Amino acid sequence: MNEHHLNVWLEVSRHAYTHNLSFFRQLVGPDVELAAVVKSNAYGHGMQQIAALAKDADSFCVHALTEALQLRQAGFTRDILILGPVPIEDLEQVVAHDLRMALFTHRSAIRLAEISTRLQQPARVHLKLETGTHRQGIDADELDGFCDFFKRNPGVIAEGVYTHFANIEDTTDHDYAEVQLTRFKSAVDRLRAAGIDPPRCHAACSAATLVFPETHFNMVRLGISQYGLWSSKETYLSYRLEHPEARTALVPALSWKTRISQLKQVPAGSFVGYGCTYQTTRSTRIAVLPVGYADGYDRRFSNQSHVLIRGRRAPVRGRICMNLTMVDVTDISTVELGDEVVLLGRQGDEAVTADQLASLAGTIHYEILTRINWDLPRLVVD
Ligand SMILES: Cc1ncc(COP(=O)(O)O)c(C=O)c1O
Repeated sequence: MNEHHLNVWLEVSRHAYTHNLSFFRQLVGPDVELAAVVKSNAYGHGMQQIAALAKDADSFCVHALTEALQLRQAGFTRDILILGPVPIEDLEQVVAHDLRMALFTHRSAIRLAEISTRLQQPARVHLKLETGTHRQGIDADELDGFCDFFKRNPGVIAEGVYTHFANIEDTTDHDYAEVQLTRFKSAVDRLRAAGIDPPRCHAACSAATLVFPETHFNMVRLGISQYGLWSSKETYLSYRLEHPEARTALVPALSWKTRISQLKQVPAGSFVGYGCTYQTTRSTRIAVLPVGYADGYDRRFSNQSHVLIRGRRAPVRGRICMNLTMVDVTDISTVELGDEVVLLGRQGDEAVTADQLASLAGTIHYEILTRINWDLPRLVVD
């Protein structure tokens, strides 16, 4: 398949992606495990495509068992850690496929012990510790119970221990992250004192990896920034304080494209799209694009975003429809039917960033990326 046969597609730049991973390899050094977080279709980039490009990643993190199984079925043999909950009925698959999973309930621990005895295979878990996010996690007062459990059930192996920061990307003030880090270290010390010494210890997401080296321990879980995006403006600013070359450190890997499917001239005073929310103020050339909110091009971009055509910005006119969008190309005189249109990414000297789209939709770039329809083709280019 190539892009000439497609109405809407995504391109993942091999060059950009591998550049970002080697940047992180250099940042954390050779001895820290680089886990590529490829959940939610690799943040919209295509899980299989990214897993194949991620040669410099030591392991993968996913949210769901189904994602882990897809990676195994596609032939990826590296370690895979499931961060989300695994339904109790499916725990056997974790053991049978030699996966790792986050452990935070006794119920799952007990069932894993039964399964590992029955299958005569170890169940590998990473203990998820509650340090202040109040999401999934084992509270400090539950730790002793888990230590007893591991001593009594050698088939369940505490391969890792980890936590997740609540407030590392939304601020340049890392006081709360420091509090969580202190709680994490003291919980790990308690585990060790009780004779449970998980070989892998991790806390860092992208923002922590970039601005808080103390959180690297011996593994980092790298999500958004492996794809070339800063977790937030605050993360970028904090990093840039110490690293003047920050502007070129990360290169966005994803472009989202379509083609003009119809061109028409409409007189001044004409309405464009549902609800007649836009009325032309001059004789206007409209290009119709075969992309809409069903593809993830958010309806909140109506009358707000712009796309790139022939290296120029073309504003969206009227409402984004389910499968179609109209843009104003009056000022792009050379435009032709079939021209490539960039919804997200660069064209010539212009760029549309996931951050810009996110601010138009009142959300964050994570949501824009992960909601790009997963069925759209993702092509690896350059
Ligand atoms: C537990 C956990 N670790 C790591 C990550 C990666 O975070 P980021 O994309 O900010 O690097 C996530 C993302 O949601 C997560 O939930």
